[in-house]
Amino acid sequence: MKALCIAGSPSRGSHTAALVRHVAHLLEARGFDITLMDLAESPLPQSHPDHYWSSEPHPHPAAREFIATARACDAVVLGTPVHHAGYSGLLKSALDHLPHDAFEGKAVGLVANAGGPRGSGNACEQLRQVVKALGGWTVPTQVSTVAADFGERRSLDAAEAIDSRCVTLADQLHAFTRAMRADVTEAVL
Ligand SMILES: Cc1cc2nc3c(=O)[nH]c(=O)nc-3n(C[C@H](O)[C@H](O)[C@H](O)COP(=O)(O)O)c2cc1C
Repeated sequence: MKALCIAGSPSRGSHTAALVRHVAHLLEARGFDITLMDLAESPLPQSHPDHYWSSEPHPHPAAREFIATARACDAVVLGTPVHHAGYSGLLKSALDHLPHDAFEGKAVGLVANAGGPRGSGNACEQLRQVVKALGGWTVPTQVSTVAADFGERRSLDAAEAIDSRCVTLADQLHAFTRAMRADVTEAVL
C-alpha cells in the first residue's frame, strides 16, 4: 500500500508539514510506503489548463513525477494551512495538475492548521469537494491544529487529543484502503 502525503503550506518548516508528517508516520506503522511531498520544499510549477487538456506528458519533470505518484498511490493525505477561511492556493495549484480521476478508488484524509481554533473546518470541507471532483473518497475524520498544539521541533507527540484524532484518521485510511483492495473481512473497523 502506498500513501501520498501532501503538505500545502508555502512556509518552510510549517505546522501543516509537521501535522502531515505525524499522520504519515502513523500510516507507515500500518504498512504504507510513504511519499511525503512538502510543497514548500519541493515546489511544483503553477498549473495551467493547456497542460491539463494536452495529451502530451507535462513538460516539467516535477509535475510529471507528481502526477505519476498520485496515480500510483492507494491513499492520500492532504494537509493545508487556512488562508482566508480556505485551503491554500499552493495546494489547489498542485491538485489542478491532476487528471479528474487521479484519486479514483483512493481513501483521502484531510488535515489543516489554522491561526485560530475554529479556522480549519471550512478548509477541510472545501477540500472534500475537490477530492470528490478527483474521484476520491474522503474518510470522515479530519484533524485540525493550531500552533499551540505543537511542542518542540513541531512535535505532536504530547498533544494527546490531536494524536488520538490522527490515529483514528490513520485507522480509517488503512481500513478503507484494505477494503478497496478487496481484503474486506479484515478491514472492518
Ligand atoms: C493570507 C493568510 C490568510 C490567513 N487567513 C486565516 C484565516 O482565515 N483563519 C485562520 O484561522 N488563520 C488564518 N491565517 C493564519 C494561518 O492559518 C496560519 O498562519 C497557518 O496555519 C500557519 O501554518 P503553517 O505553518 O503550516 O503555514 C492566515 C494566514 C495567511 C498568510
